This record gives sequence, C-alpha cells and structure tokens, in this order.
Amino acid sequence: MLARVPEPELMDSPEQVAAYAGADFAASDNAFVERLLQALQPLPDRGTLIDLGCGPGGITISTARSLPGWQITALDAGANMLARAGENLHRQPAAVRERVTLHQAWLPQHGLRQQFDVIISNSLLHHLPDPTTLWQTLVALGRRGSLVQVMDLLRPDSEQQLQQLVQTHAGDAPPVLQQDFSHSLRAAYSLEELGAQLKSAGLQHLSLAQISDRHMQISGRL
Ligand SMILES: C[S@@+](CC[C@H](N)C(=O)[O-])C[C@H]1O[C@@H](n2cnc3c(N)ncnc32)[C@H](O)[C@@H]1O
Repeated sequence: MLARVPEPELMDSPEQVAAYAGADFAASDNAFVERLLQALQPLPDRGTLIDLGCGPGGITISTARSLPGWQITALDAGANMLARAGENLHRQPAAVRERVTLHQAWLPQHGLRQQFDVIISNSLLHHLPDPTTLWQTLVALGRRGSLVQVMDLLRPDSEQQLQQLVQTHAGDAPPVLQQDFSHSLRAAYSLEELGAQLKSAGLQHLSLAQISDRHMQISGRL
C-alpha cells in the first residue's frame, strides 16, 4: 500500500483557486448530485442542506438548482475560494442565488447554531490534517435522520496505479492540475482506513463503497 502523504489543508492562493475553478469536474459533480437526488426521493419541497468545503461552488449551485425551495449553506475556510463561489453564484438567477448562503469557517470550528436535513461534502476529507474533523462536524451539524453524502478520492495501492490514474484523468490537464490530482490521490484514505474512522466515530452504520476507479462514497442517515 502506498504511504499516505498529507497535502496542505487549504488551496486558497489565487493561482490554485483559478486552476481549480477552471477545471472540468462536471461529470463527477453531476453524478454526485444525481446520487443525492436519488437518495432524497421523493424530493421534499423544502429542506436545509450544507456543503462542507464547497470550493468554487459547482456542486452547491447544481444542488440549489435541483432543490427549489431548499435553503443551502456553502461552507469553506478559503476566502479566495469562497469569493469565487460568490462570483459563480452571482451568475445564477435570483431564485437560485437568494437561497444560497456562503459561510466562511475553518472546520472543526463551524460557527453555526443550525442543524441540517442534508450534509454533503466532496473532496474535503483528504485535505484535513485530522479526519475526525469531518466526522465530528457531521454529528454536530446533523440530527437523527439527516442524510449524509461524502465523496472523496481513494489512495491507490501502488505508485504505478497512481501514475495511471493521473494519466487517464488528467493527462490533458495543465501541469498545476496534474500535480494537484497526484497530491490529492496520495493524501486520500484507503477503504480500510475509512472504515476504521467511521467505526471510531460511531458512524459505522453509514454505507461506504468504492464508486469509481478513484472515488469512494459514504452515505446514509445519521
Ligand atoms: C478540493 S476542494 C473541493 C471543493 C468542492 N467541494 C468541489 O467538489 O469542487 C477542498 C476545499 O476544502 C476547503 N477546506 C480545506 N480544509 C478546510 C477546513 N478545515 N474547513 C473548511 N474548509 C476547508 C478548501 O479551502 C477547498 O476549497
């Protein structure tokens, strides 16, 4: 098994924000939102949802568009990243824009008193120096029955597998993104490590599955 190499927690330099926001994550973002909508069937008219580590807001905005009537909170620690999410949100119709609140907070400090019906997070976990931050935030911001959907990368078994994934999925991307992807794969957790984290957080009833050659998803109700 490849050794885990953590990466810097925030990706908030103007260059990183621009490169990340300019990357095309549409396929995996859309698939994430599709699975969420499936899990929510029949779709409630109203609800509250928080996106932890929302980045430039691709998934947040797509979720807000798919869930009319819902109040959405988008949380991120990076001021530049959140500003980019604000710009992207500004291009949306008022009916979408006005239901989304951007919230700057560095987890585990969330500064929120509210609990949410749905908690989502994509690609935050592997950035956290201590993964328990995510699990304790789910418990703090959810209530019994809240739906959780967390997606992240899985650390490959070998250097060869890692290089193959970078070639397959970022072969045509700018070098800064290839490097980011490679670092993120190294910083990600294995299924075994994730299973142990869920168990020690008392969240072992959530389902944990590999959903692509590089992604895992944790989902279920608190
Ligand atoms: C790889 S990006 C993922 C962005 C977005 N979820 C997406 O799917 O495109 C990870 C985000 O997590 C944020 N982040 C990292 N550590 C954080 C923390 N402790 N609290 C809040 N946000 C954090 C970073 O600023 C960054 O925007």
